[in-house]
Amino acid sequence: MMIRIIVVALLLASAGATENITGEFIATNEWQIIAKGQAIPKGLHVRINLQTGLKEAKLIDENERGTSLQEKREDENESLGLDYKPDIIEESLRKVKEQKQQKKQNYAELKKAYNEFQKNFRTDGELIVELLKQYRNFSKTPIESELKLKMDTLENLEYLLHQIDNALVFIDKAGLDDVLLPIVVNETNVPLRISAMRVLGSVTSNNPKAQIKVFEKNFGSHLAQILMSSTNSGELSAALHAFGSLLRKFPLAQQRILSTSGTQALIRVLRSSQVELRTKAKVITIISDLVQEKRSVLESAGSQEVPDGTSAMAQYVLLEFESWLETHGYCSTMDNVLTKDFLHLIEQPEIVEQLSMTLDTTENICHPLWSESSGLRHALLTIRNRYVHSKDEYRLELSQILTKICEKLFNKAAKHTEL
Ligand SMILES: *[C@@H]1O[C@H](CO)[C@@H](O)[C@H](O)[C@H]1NC(C)=O
Ligand SMILES: *[C@@H]1O[C@H](CO)[C@@H](O)[C@H](O)[C@H]1NC(C)=O
Ligand SMILES: *[C@@H]1O[C@H](CO)[C@@H](O)[C@H](O)[C@H]1NC(C)=O
Ligand SMILES: *[C@@H]1O[C@H](CO)[C@@H](O)[C@H](O)[C@H]1NC(C)=O
Repeated sequence: MMIRIIVVALLLASAGATENITGEFIATNEWQIIAKGQAIPKGLHVRINLQTGLKEAKLIDENERGTSLQEKREDENESLGLDYKPDIIEESLRKVKEQKQQKKQNYAELKKAYNEFQKNFRTDGELIVELLKQYRNFSKTPIESELKLKMDTLENLEYLLHQIDNALVFIDKAGLDDVLLPIVVNETNVPLRISAMRVLGSVTSNNPKAQIKVFEKNFGSHLAQILMSSTNSGELSAALHAFGSLLRKFPLAQQRILSTSGTQALIRVLRSSQVELRTKAKVITIISDLVQEKRSVLESAGSQEVPDGTSAMAQYVLLEFESWLETHGYCSTMDNVLTKDFLHLIEQPEIVEQLSMTLDTTENICHPLWSESSGLRHALLTIRNRYVHSKDEYRLELSQILTKICEKLFNKAAKHTEL
């Protein structure tokens, strides 16, 4: 199988011009191997042959025009230096994964080809600086024709900034102020906002230094604002991902953001009748993770000598997420979600799993209300009873988890009624 990664070599001329090792590359209509370090003219099609791992190039065929990358070249002649399309690579990786045979071999080839590819273009850092330059060059007022270019730039950033060092370069070069903040705060185009929040999620996930910078720029309350007002599921998902990544393992941010609008925003999403269950499940997971995070930090502190983590510990102690949840109506909101939607839930066991975990994690907060709720009891028992006879192991396992929750909440009731 050959996966072709087609790119337009806009940057090659400037990036590789000094490495004229093997003479000029004469492009034709046929694919030809590009020697290592060989400079090639601008505007060619370049691909990686994944069987050989070699780069090849040819002239752009007239009837190949119309792909997005070439359009860019047409529209923007030099200004757009995007020299590759990471999502194509990711898509390829995904397809490769699906093939059970040769899986490992193909993956290794892809990875090798990708590394080779990167090496021959520029470093990630240079690429990020280039992307930022391009972004700053867009007009200040929104122009329809620039939309796709902006989206592409953001998509490339999202891919690159998963890496911790890359994210820090982006922040160091004022990417938060110049690109993300204006979009998240002022942009009216929803797809652009979604892309920007994906980039933000990419920047903050598992990256403590980046989390601090993003927090200092007040993204937490901007995201909460979006969670308070949006009904678009794509937008909510992107916002939730960024919100969760910003808050995880960052007790100070949790304290500041969740004590103000943050908790309310999460519960608002759960409460909205216009938001689908899948999106609500994301909220539920964030809530459960944050409640558990504090507990496990405090537990681990109790079981050993506290080393120098005392200040983080103090921040967790001050964090009262559980009581903010209660104040903002979390218990009755969860009760409502289950009572109203349990029939839809039956068909979505992954969401049932997330819900069950969260019910279990937060049962101590909501016990008084939940244990008296006949609607909740009916919902949980119905799902449990439906799964208990399933031939599917996953559902069977869920039925056991649900039984335990019901026993905690309703004591004997679970065993003797509605079976
Ligand atoms: C590259 O090498 C070829 C052949 O050696 C030479 O004719 C050409 O001028 C060189 N180009 C550059 C940019 O140095
Ligand atoms: C790009 O296109 C514009 C007009 O569309 C033109 O003025 C400019 O010279 C072109 N730049 C290059 C480098 O070709
Ligand atoms: C941005 O625009 C300036 C002037 O308009 C130009 O000199 C510069 O080359 C452009 N940069 C990029 C990356 O397009
Ligand atoms: C958002 O727009 C307002 C009004 O135009 C402006 O004052 C503000 O600086 C903008 N904020 C950002 C982050 O771009």
